[in-house]
Amino acid sequence: MADAPNSPEAGLLVCRSEALAERGLGVQWDLLYCGREERAFALRFDGRVVAYLNRCAHVPTELDWQPNEFLDSSREHILCAVHGAVYSPRTGACVMGRCGRAGLIPVTVTEDAGEVRWYPNAHQRPLPPPELADPPEPPSP
Ligand code: FES
Repeated sequence: MADAPNSPEAGLLVCRSEALAERGLGVQWDLLYCGREERAFALRFDGRVVAYLNRCAHVPTELDWQPNEFLDSSREHILCAVHGAVYSPRTGACVMGRCGRAGLIPVTVTEDAGEVRWYPNAHQRPLPPPELADPPEPPSP
């Protein structure tokens, strides 16, 4: 069987399905959000893969309290490690704490044929290939 194409239209590979255990650790990847490099994460919750930017609605900082650990101890909610905002894994909506009405920013993902893929949109773009990325700054004298 041929591999599924990896393009923005066909979806970009996040991980194999088996990498996401039910209410387990997330898988993260980098993308551009409104031109800035950000991290996104995917989780499996109630059998469905959900994905959001790894960015709290209170202060734009990453949520995970251990690497790839997004859920609270009850495995019921996404918890921000900084000030404890609580989000619904199903919708990304703020449930409690300093997250307000904004909630998490969703990333469109699908799961098919054992693969999880994300789909860029006007605000969420893939990182440019390394050869097109800005060259490193020369060392200062
Ligand atoms: S930074 Fe997440 S609740 Fe404050």
